[in-house]
Amino acid sequence: MTPTTLMTSIPTLEDLGDVDGRQVLVRTDFNVPLTTGDDGSVSIVDDFRIRAAMATVEWLTERGAQVVCASHLGRPKGRVDERYSMAPVASRLAELAPGVELLDNLRFDAREETNDPTFVTELVEGIDLYVNDAFGASHRAHASIVGPPTVLPSAMGRLLQREVEVLSSMRDSPKRPFVAVLGGAKVSDKLGVVEALLGAVDSLVIGGAMCFTFLAAKGHRIGDSLFEPDMVDTCRRLLESGAAIHLPDDIVGLDANGNFATYGARLPDGAKGFDIGPGSAAAFSDVIMDARMVFWNGPMGMFEDDRFAAGTRTVAEAMADTKAFTVVGGGDSAAALASFGLEDRIDHVSTGGGASLELLEFGDLPGLAALRGAPNA
Ligand code: 3PG
Repeated sequence: MTPTTLMTSIPTLEDLGDVDGRQVLVRTDFNVPLTTGDDGSVSIVDDFRIRAAMATVEWLTERGAQVVCASHLGRPKGRVDERYSMAPVASRLAELAPGVELLDNLRFDAREETNDPTFVTELVEGIDLYVNDAFGASHRAHASIVGPPTVLPSAMGRLLQREVEVLSSMRDSPKRPFVAVLGGAKVSDKLGVVEALLGAVDSLVIGGAMCFTFLAAKGHRIGDSLFEPDMVDTCRRLLESGAAIHLPDDIVGLDANGNFATYGARLPDGAKGFDIGPGSAAAFSDVIMDARMVFWNGPMGMFEDDRFAAGTRTVAEAMADTKAFTVVGGGDSAAALASFGLEDRIDHVSTGGGASLELLEFGDLPGLAALRGAPNA
């Protein structure tokens, strides 16, 4: 599907008509990282996703709409769980957009994730119009994402619109060389996107703990590093496909006695790798600097620990310095960028981790398909 067909059939805010005095349900992704202080108080670590929804909320309120926001927070599994209360989000939202209502955590009700029509009916009661601005949750066919567009005039919000424009054009008309940098723990989580990207990118750079499954597939010893034995054959097949896959050739981690150690691409028994080494970080940086378009998802190592942050930092700095068009796909890599203070130097930081990967893999998302079926589409 080309970006034009993907986007043209989805109504935008302008297609809602006059919103003055109308009740508008805005599905947002306010699934923000939280921290609990010593006194037990819960606060927001990063309000990026809340700020990112403000363009849509303000567009609606400035035109006289009554906005009701709804979001999930964490994975409370269909039960009320105070650890996932929306209260911290509600306070921040009240500062950014006074007068805007916020429903309680959608996932406190099991019917959200099962897409139960009775939950959709309750959500849309008294509501005139629906807006999906929850890009980060649009890969979930949950009630609040796919239900309201079946019954209400609907639209995509500004955040969703921008995300889809950037990611679908990256997928369908990349500037070359197009490089994807993938990290994180599990190959199994990203296998689909690795396969989809191999058909689209000029080179794929692999770091993070998932590199150990690839190194094992090359026959290297990986010590006691995290890896997925049942994915080794798949990784071998990908490596033998002839695609340009860059793997680290040095690793830093802990030796069998728990001391910091640097290795090549082979780790002795008892050693554990936690980051790509400086040589690999420099080589990955070169690939990023030579690219014209780069997509990055997943940290290169356990960056939360200063001893193992250098690989992720070097990649983040190359993303900031390259002249390529740069996109960072949500989650941990966006958190890493923020921790290095580099987020403003990236062309597009996606609010969606899983959603950005699924959009690249499949070229569409359940939340977008639902909007295409809305009565006003
Ligand atoms: C995310 O954080 O990626 C989104 O909010 C989706 O959350 P989920 O993976 O729990 O559905």
